[in-house]
Amino acid sequence: MMAHCSTSSSLNPSNLFSHPTFRTKTLSIPRLCSLSSIRIPQSHCATNRSSLRRLPVVAGAVAVDSQASYTDEKEGKKLLLEVKDLTAVITESQQKILNGVNLTVYEGEVHAIMGKNGSGKSTFSKVLVGHPDYEVTGGTAIFKGQDLLEMDPEERSLSGIFMSFQSPVAIPGVSNADFLNMAYNARQRKLGLPELGPIEFFSHVYSKLDQVNMKMDFLNRNVNEGFSGGERKRNEILQLAVLGADLAILDEIDSGLDVDALQDVARAVNGLLTPNNSVLMITHYQRLLDFIKPAYIHIMENGRIVKTGDISLASFLEKEGYKGITAA
Ligand SMILES: Nc1ncnc2c1ncn2[C@@H]1O[C@H](COP(=O)(O)OP(=O)(O)OP(=O)(O)O)[C@@H](O)[C@H]1O
Ligand SMILES: [Mg+2]
Repeated sequence: MMAHCSTSSSLNPSNLFSHPTFRTKTLSIPRLCSLSSIRIPQSHCATNRSSLRRLPVVAGAVAVDSQASYTDEKEGKKLLLEVKDLTAVITESQQKILNGVNLTVYEGEVHAIMGKNGSGKSTFSKVLVGHPDYEVTGGTAIFKGQDLLEMDPEERSLSGIFMSFQSPVAIPGVSNADFLNMAYNARQRKLGLPELGPIEFFSHVYSKLDQVNMKMDFLNRNVNEGFSGGERKRNEILQLAVLGADLAILDEIDSGLDVDALQDVARAVNGLLTPNNSVLMITHYQRLLDFIKPAYIHIMENGRIVKTGDISLASFLEKEGYKGITAA
C-alpha cells in the first residue's frame, strides 16, 4: 500500500538512510520537479523509536542546536564528544567487539583512528551512530552535553553527527537529489527554518557539487546505484557538504580513491572545517593525513584505544608497522 508520508518524521535523513531497500515508483523517476509530492511506502514511514532501532542506519547527518548547553571547555573550545569505557557486543551473536573505548573530542579538532583490520574501528563508529547490529553493554557517550546512547539514530543525526560508512550502500529508486533535498529539509525543520523546494534546493546543491568536483548528472542518479567505489566516497562528502555536521565521522573515506579524488575529497573536508566542528576519520594510510591534518592519532587494538599521539605516530606506523606500536 502506498501512502503519502508528509510528516516530518517520515522524511528525515535517518529514516531514508535506514532503508537500503527503500523503493518507490514515484521516486524512481529522478526529476527534481516531481519532488513536491513525495510518496513513500507506509511501511517505510518509521515514526517510533522501536522501529528506528531495528533499522540499519546507513548515514545521515545535519548540524543543528548551535546553542547546546555543553560547557566543558579546553582552551576556549567546547567539549563535543566524550566516550568513556564504551563496551559493545554484536546484537545477534552477543560477541564482544568493543572492550572499553575512551575518546574525547573538542570542537574544532581533527582526530584520526588507525589500527589493524578487525580491531573495531568501524564498529566503534557505527555504535556512535546507533547502528542496530550492535548493542552497547557498558560505558557512556556524551555528545554536546547529551547522552548519545539514549538517542535513537535519527536524533543522533539531527543533533549533528554525520557518518560516512566504509561501504556506503545504494538506495535503489531514490535519486541523490531527492535524498539530499529531503535530508536537508529535515534539518531545516529541526532548526525551525523554511524548507527548500526542489528548484531552490538545486541552486543550493549546485555550488556543493563544485566542492567535490562531481558532475551534475550524479544528482539525478539513484543514491550510490552503479557508482564506482570512488564515486560513492565523493558522494558521501557531497552529503556532508550539503547537510553539514558538528562531528563528521569518516570511515576510510580514502579507500578506493585515485590521487585526484583523494585531493578533491580532502579539500572538501578541509573546506568544511570550522573552529566549531570536528572530524573523526578512520584510515589505514598516512596519505590522507597529509591532506587532512589531525591533531590526534589514536591506535585501536582489540576494541580499545591503546595509544594516542600526534601526527608523528602515523609516520612511525608507516615505517615500523603495528608491531612497533605495541612494543613502543
Ligand atoms: N555485524 C557483525 N557480525 C559479525 N562480526 C562482526 C560484525 N561487526 C563487526 N564484526 C567483527 O568485529 C571485528 C571488528 O570489525 P570492524 O569492522 O569494526 O573492524 P575494523 O577495525 O573497522 O577493520 P577494517 O580495518 O578491516 O575495516 C571484526 O572481527 C569483524 O569481523
Ligand atoms: Mg572498518
